[in-house]
Amino acid sequence: MYTRLTEAIKRKPIIGWSLFAVVMVAVFVLGILAASITERRAEIATLFNNKKVAIEGIEPHNEVWGENYPREYTTWKKTGDMDFRSKHLGNMPEDVLENRPEMVLLWAGYAFAQDYSAPRGHFYAIDDIRATLRTGSPEGDTDGPQPATCWTCKSPDVPRMMHEMGIENFYKGKWGALGDEIVNPIGCADCHDPLTMNLTITRPALVEAFERQGRDIADVTPQEMRSLVCAQCHVEYYFQGDGKYLTFPWDGGCTVEDMEKYYDEADYADWTHAISKAPMLKAQHPDYELFLLGPHAKRGLSCADCHMPYISEGGIKYSNHQIVSPLKNISSTCQTCHRDDEESLRSYVYEYQDKALEIRDRIETELSKAHIMAKMAWDNGANEEQMKASLQLLRQAQWRWDFAVASHGGSFHAPVETQRILAHSLDKTLQAQLELQKVLFSKGVTDVTFPDISTKAKAQEYIGLDMNQLRDKKDTWNETVVPKWIEKAKNNGRLAMK
Ligand code: HEC
Ligand code: HEC
Ligand code: HEC
Ligand code: HEC
Repeated sequence: MYTRLTEAIKRKPIIGWSLFAVVMVAVFVLGILAASITERRAEIATLFNNKKVAIEGIEPHNEVWGENYPREYTTWKKTGDMDFRSKHLGNMPEDVLENRPEMVLLWAGYAFAQDYSAPRGHFYAIDDIRATLRTGSPEGDTDGPQPATCWTCKSPDVPRMMHEMGIENFYKGKWGALGDEIVNPIGCADCHDPLTMNLTITRPALVEAFERQGRDIADVTPQEMRSLVCAQCHVEYYFQGDGKYLTFPWDGGCTVEDMEKYYDEADYADWTHAISKAPMLKAQHPDYELFLLGPHAKRGLSCADCHMPYISEGGIKYSNHQIVSPLKNISSTCQTCHRDDEESLRSYVYEYQDKALEIRDRIETELSKAHIMAKMAWDNGANEEQMKASLQLLRQAQWRWDFAVASHGGSFHAPVETQRILAHSLDKTLQAQLELQKVLFSKGVTDVTFPDISTKAKAQEYIGLDMNQLRDKKDTWNETVVPKWIEKAKNNGRLAMK
C-alpha cells in the first residue's frame, strides 16, 4: 500500500501536492479547535478571577452565586418560566391523573393515587413538594406520612443539612421536621464546588452506588460528569430499611431486569396494592439509566449537551442553565450536531413518543382491568396459593410500565429499550389476565364487570379515597404551617429572597 502510494506520487506529482494540501488544512483546523478550547478555558479563568464574593462551604443561596456568575444565574432563574409546551411535555404543570384516570387505580393504596403532576422547572422543586398531597399535612416534627429522605432531590440545603446532622440522621427524621431549613430550590451548590467551580457530586447515594459496583466516582471523565450531576436525582431509588436510607438499586446492573432482581432478592415491596393485594414496586424516574442504553449516550453525549446548550453572547460563551425541554430551542440543541431542519428534528422526537404512548395506553387499560379481576378472585374465595402467580405477574407488569413511563424523556432518550420494556409489560399484563381467568373460572365466575373509572374523581372514589377531606386538610396546612416555615427560615437567614 505504502510503496504503491510512493510510485503513484512519482508518476503523478499532483497526488503528492494534494496530500500535502489536505494535511495542511487538517493541521489548520486542529489549530483553530485547540485555540477555541484554550480561549474557552481563558474565558472561564477570567470569569473566575473576576469573582465579586468569596463563596466557601455549602452556600445554598443561589443569589449569592449570582453575584459572581450573572449569566448562569439569570438563565437558571428561567427554570421558573412556564411558557413552553411540546406535544407531550413542557415546563407547565399538568394534572396527570385527571388526563389518565386509570393511573389512580394502578397506584391504589399508594400516595401517588391522590395526586400526581408532571414536573416543572427546578425553580419550583420546593413549592411543589410542599403543595403535593403526597407529603400530607404534618403539624410537628414527628408526624406525617413521609421521611426527610423525600427532601433529598429538592434543594442545596440538603447537602448543608447532611453535613450538619450526619447522613443517617438526616434520612431518619420526618419530612416535616426540616420544613424551615430546606427552603432554597435546586441550585448552584447541588452541582458545583464553589472554590473551583468544577462539577461535583453532593448526594451520597450516587457515590455509594458507585462504590458498591467497585467503581470510584472520582475517576470519571469531565464529559461523564455532565450527566452524573443529573444522575444524583434523575434515577431509580428506594428508601432502605427503617432508617429510610436513600439507596440506588444498581448493585447488579442498571437495566429494568437487573433492578427488579435486586428488589426480588431483597424481598422488597414499596406497597401492597389496595385492590389486587399484589406486592408492588414503584419505579421513580430512571432517566439516567435509560438514557445510557440509547443511541446518544452510546455516541458519548451527556445530559448537558441537549439540556444545557452553550449560548454565545458578545465574546462570552456559557452554558444555558435554563434546564428544560431541548425542543424549546432546537437551533442551539439538536442543530449543533444535526443538519436536519427544525420541523424534522421535532417530528423525530414526536414519532418516538407517539409510538411508545400507543403501547402505554394499551397497558394502562388492560393492567387496571387485571387488578380488578384479582379483586374479584379474592372476593370469590380464592386463596393465597391460587393467587400467587397472578400477583407476581401484576408486580412485574406494573414495574415495567412505570419504569418506562416515569422516565419522561425515555421514549426519546432510548426509543428501542423503552419499546422493549413496554412490550414486556403488555405481555405480562395479558399473562396475568389469563392466570386470573383460570382462577375465576375455578370459582365459577364467568363474567367480570368493570367499574366506571373514566374520571379522576370516579377512580379515586372507587379505590376509597376521601379526596375532600385530604384536600381541606392540606389547604389549611398550607395556610398555617408553611408560612411559619418561611418566616422562621427568613429570620434565621436561610432564605434570602421573597
Ligand atoms: C437535586 C436534584 C436534581 C438535580 C441535580 C437535577 N434535577 Fe432535574 N429535576 C429535579 C426535580 C425535583 C424536578 C421536578 C421539579 C418540579 O416539578 O417541581 C426536575 C425537573 C427536571 C426537568 C423538567 C423541567 C420542565 O421544565 O418540565 C428536566 C428536563 C430536568 N429536571 C433535567 C435535569 C438535568 C438535565 C439535570 C442535570 C444537568 C438535572 N435535571 C439535575 C431534580 C434534580
Ligand atoms: C443541575 C446541575 C447544575 C446546576 C444546578 C448549576 N449548574 Fe452550573 N454548570 C452545570 C454544568 C453541567 C456545566 C457545564 C460544565 C462543563 O461543561 O464542564 C455548568 C457550568 C457552569 C459554569 C462554567 C461556565 C459555563 O457557563 O459553562 C459556571 C460559572 C456555572 N455553571 C455557574 C452556575 C451557577 C451560578 C449556578 C446557580 C445559579 C449553577 N451553575 C447551577 C451544572 C449545573
Ligand atoms: C440528544 C439530546 C438529549 C440528551 C443528551 C438528553 N435528553 Fe433529556 N430529553 C430530550 C428530549 C428531546 C426530550 C423530550 C422533550 C419534549 O418532548 O418536549 C427530553 C426529555 C427529558 C425529560 C422530561 C422533561 C419533562 O418536561 O418532563 C427529562 C427529565 C430529561 N430529558 C432528562 C435528561 C437527563 C437526566 C439526561 C441525561 C441522563 C438527558 N435528559 C439527556 C433530549 C435529550
Ligand atoms: C452533541 C451532538 C448531538 C446533539 C446535540 C444531538 N444529537 Fe442526535 N445524534 C448525534 C449522533 C452522533 C448520533 C448518531 C449518528 C449516527 O450514528 O449516524 C445521533 C443520532 C440521532 C438520531 C438517530 C437515532 C438512532 O436510533 O440511531 C436521531 C433521531 C437524533 N439523533 C435526533 C436528535 C434530536 C431530536 C436532538 C435534539 C433534541 C439531537 N439528536 C441532538 C449527535 C447529537
